[in-house]
Amino acid sequence: MTTIDVVLGDITTENVDAIVTAANESLLGGGGVDGAIHRAAGRRLAEAGGKIGPCPPGEAMATPAFDLDPPVRHVIHTVGPVWEGGRYGEAGVLASCYRRCLAVADELGAGSVAFPAIATGVYGFPPEQAARIAVTTLRSTPTEVSRIRLIAFDAETLDLLRTALAA
Ligand code: APR
Repeated sequence: MTTIDVVLGDITTENVDAIVTAANESLLGGGGVDGAIHRAAGRRLAEAGGKIGPCPPGEAMATPAFDLDPPVRHVIHTVGPVWEGGRYGEAGVLASCYRRCLAVADELGAGSVAFPAIATGVYGFPPEQAARIAVTTLRSTPTEVSRIRLIAFDAETLDLLRTALAA
């Protein structure tokens, strides 16, 4: 049985086994949620990311969580689609991010995973459609993960995720 909760907060303070970062293909770190997680995990995160990258859009790769506080043991790096109007397969790539992150979490034996609103910041994916894709994909992907937390960083995203979850 997998539960999905939506909360407003900072993903770097989540008490889960694995947190997902919305990375770029280099896995060397960036701004937004990726920047926050790299700052919290320390410079070893970029070193580890650089060794396993590049990560293609829609894929997911794991590293240790380094300086992030327990119980967080893993960072799952995924690369969302850059929004280009919606006719270039962006929705499928975003769905793949959520699906592949769960598959990687299962490989890690992670029982709980926190996700940011992948691709809805710098990458410009429309947040309402992204929220629907997130919830629909997570609900339809078989996984051993028992606790999924969707972390909204602002009130609008929180409302959109709650609406998607209630649908
Ligand atoms: N905790 C949770 N969510 C956060 C946090 C945080 N500390 N900081 C930002 N967010 C939210 C943003 O508000 C947005 O809703 O994460 C969501 C994703 O936004 P971005 O971080 O901009 O990610 P994305 O749109 O996928 O763009 C990825 O940005 O930072 C670079 O290296 C990254 O090139 C990559 C691109």
